[in-house]
Amino acid sequence: MSELQIEHLHADFGAGIRGIDLSSPMPESMREEILDAIDTYSFVCFPGQAMPDEELLAFTRLLGEPEPEHITLGQTGKIVYFGTVGNVGDDCVQKGNDHPDIRFQAGNQLWHADSSFRERPCSFTVTHAHEVPGEGGATEFVSARAAYDRLPDDMREKIDELKVIHDYVFSRSQVAPVNPNHAASLPPVAHKLIRQNPRNGRKNYYVGSHARSVVGWPGIESRELIDDLLARMTRPEDIYAHQWQAGDTVIWDNRCLLHRGASYDADRWRRRMRQTRVAGSDYGELHS
Ligand code: OGA
Ligand code: MN
Repeated sequence: MSELQIEHLHADFGAGIRGIDLSSPMPESMREEILDAIDTYSFVCFPGQAMPDEELLAFTRLLGEPEPEHITLGQTGKIVYFGTVGNVGDDCVQKGNDHPDIRFQAGNQLWHADSSFRERPCSFTVTHAHEVPGEGGATEFVSARAAYDRLPDDMREKIDELKVIHDYVFSRSQVAPVNPNHAASLPPVAHKLIRQNPRNGRKNYYVGSHARSVVGWPGIESRELIDDLLARMTRPEDIYAHQWQAGDTVIWDNRCLLHRGASYDADRWRRRMRQTRVAGSDYGELHS
């Protein structure tokens, strides 16, 4: 890799990358290096970036097609490309622990892959941290590839051809009622359990909080399998906890990672991160 300096973050995945300003124009070769790094490391963090929204969206477009944010789309039909993670609204006012938006975001504290409940799930999430808590508020990640590699052979064979239903209303109703228009916009979808990166051939399995049931399996066995697969992926030693620093721009590959937010005291701290997502394209075997 050219002038980029790479630091490994966890034995299974993850890289911190220095030596580039993402908001300046970059040659095609650099764009390809970044896409290669995402395929290789699944999680890449570029510290010390200046990324107002406009630059974040321009950078997102370099990686692929931005995905419309599903909450605004489902509730109102409007296309916006940004989501805000944390407790600071567009008006810069801090929301406390009891604010409904903060309670709704608690759904993100369950292991998940972003937009796995969409017919075409996103590939990458791009997040820029503007303000971070002094304590708590990490985001935790695990590699679904490493978990697949650890499975015993008979288990890999058993799950090879399975499909799983992903359902946003199922997962989020456990936390708070879902707006009816939003719910209607996201009918359950079936995705193949085993996925393969078309560029490097690495396989993984695809579960998380939105995974509701295995197609064609009775309820209890279906739930047991999904819970077992999730437990195998999320042992404490598998986790990389990203402690955000203001100025971090992070890309994670939802095709082969799960993540969850760790709690923080929203009454005490401000946490403001802006986020875009890149529409899925090249795990084309997803559709049933
Ligand atoms: C996300 C997410 C959890 C958190 O940004 O997609 O799930 O609070 N975040 O860090
Ligand atoms: Mn998420």
